Amino acid sequence: MATFKSQFPEGFYWGGATAANQIEGAFDEDGKGLSAADFVEYIPREERKRDNAMEITSEQIRKTLSGESTARHPKREGIDFYHRYKEDIALLAEMGFKAFRLSIHWSRIFPNGYDETPNEAGLQFYDNVFDELAKYNIEPVVTLSHYETPYGLTEKYNAWVSRETIDHFVRYAETVFTRYKDKVKYWMTFNEINMITISPYTGGGILSDKEENPVQAKFQGLHHQFVASSLATKKLHEIIPDGKMGCMLARMSHYPNTPNPEDVLKAQQDNQENLFFADVHARGEYPKYLDRFFVENDIEIVKETGDDEILKQYPVDYISFSYYMSMVSSNSPEGERTEGNLMNTLKNPYLEASEWGWQIDPVGLRVVLNELYDRYQLPLFLVENGLGAYDRVEEDGSIHDDYRIDYMRKHIEQMKEAIGDGVDLMGYLAWGPIDLVSMSTSEMSKRYGMIYVDKDDEGNGTLERSKKDSFYWYKKVIESNGEEL
Ligand code: BG6
Repeated sequence: MATFKSQFPEGFYWGGATAANQIEGAFDEDGKGLSAADFVEYIPREERKRDNAMEITSEQIRKTLSGESTARHPKREGIDFYHRYKEDIALLAEMGFKAFRLSIHWSRIFPNGYDETPNEAGLQFYDNVFDELAKYNIEPVVTLSHYETPYGLTEKYNAWVSRETIDHFVRYAETVFTRYKDKVKYWMTFNEINMITISPYTGGGILSDKEENPVQAKFQGLHHQFVASSLATKKLHEIIPDGKMGCMLARMSHYPNTPNPEDVLKAQQDNQENLFFADVHARGEYPKYLDRFFVENDIEIVKETGDDEILKQYPVDYISFSYYMSMVSSNSPEGERTEGNLMNTLKNPYLEASEWGWQIDPVGLRVVLNELYDRYQLPLFLVENGLGAYDRVEEDGSIHDDYRIDYMRKHIEQMKEAIGDGVDLMGYLAWGPIDLVSMSTSEMSKRYGMIYVDKDDEGNGTLERSKKDSFYWYKKVIESNGEEL
């Protein structure tokens, strides 16, 4: 049999990805308003019931606002990228980054979300960041909303539950497209849009305890996000003719636990429950298979005349997604479970797991890439992948994170194979190239970076940056366009 050599294409976007609320800090500087992330509390590992219990209650918000709460809110501090972005971008450039994903913190631009005019200081900050990236020819990839719904919208409308939020989002999108039209070409609307149905607070600024029917409310919120995303895509193409809009899905692919057809069916249903978000974004309509799901779960989406046409007319240009792990579905409730990204799952006996229980599955990435390309025939962009791990700093300051290198190498190898299978892949953005605050646990010790940040879970540390072994390894990977792994 002849051997086939897969290769990364020229111009492949190697780089990394972040979110404003996990890196910036400066939560109340230069006119920024509060956002959903600013209320998220750090709970030490020993005291947590689950890692991904991400919901916040009205009572927690009240206590934080009144000063009664003694909780720490690490997403208010981040890693101080707000003041250190020049140093950080220089380090990314040293690794040879071709692209860097960041989000705009919506409440830096519109402090309450519903303001009539934008905050100039907020706009200026991102101008500075984009100019700094341009100095090194690093392409910015920008998320409009990464779990950062302005708190003002939550207070006034329970955020995405209300239709009004669509207009506020579109005004925000139009503002930043106009401002950055010569600086940013690649955009995406909602990070992991499936989050809103898993944690409505995280994904949509929705306080579920305020809703009589929380299930109905979160799906209504999701519909509003779909419409807002399409309207933002329309604006993008008007304002930046060569601009590209992506959706963003946390792809959680489910394997059947056994060949029992009941398990296979369950896995198919779980996959549909995950893929339907990208189906709406890319195909411009709700898939037929959801009719049954909505009826059986008493969900009735209220649409306005014209919504279906909007979804149909303005689908996304590319499919971006995060991939960390795979899941297992079973028709039976038995079996040992483990934590995972956004939700937990049955254990897969063929896979090892991270220290947080996420099941490591590089071959699953090849499966997912083939599946998504087959399904949508649109360019794909892997905008998050990586290993959250404890790092040890040696006496001489070095950090030997061979486990991270191993994780990334194996995923990159499978990505390369998928390109050989014919998949059109635009790039690979490693999650958290510089250590940042964990989304699900607000820990600093769950590190993804190739650049170490001296800060611990309690907020102590110098914030000094240093290079891990993976820094030098990833630099070589980029230099050789994925040939030297
Ligand atoms: C993704 C999110 O789900 O996973 C990121 O988009 C997040 O915001 C990343 O940080 C890793 O998850 P965690 O919980 O380990 O930070």
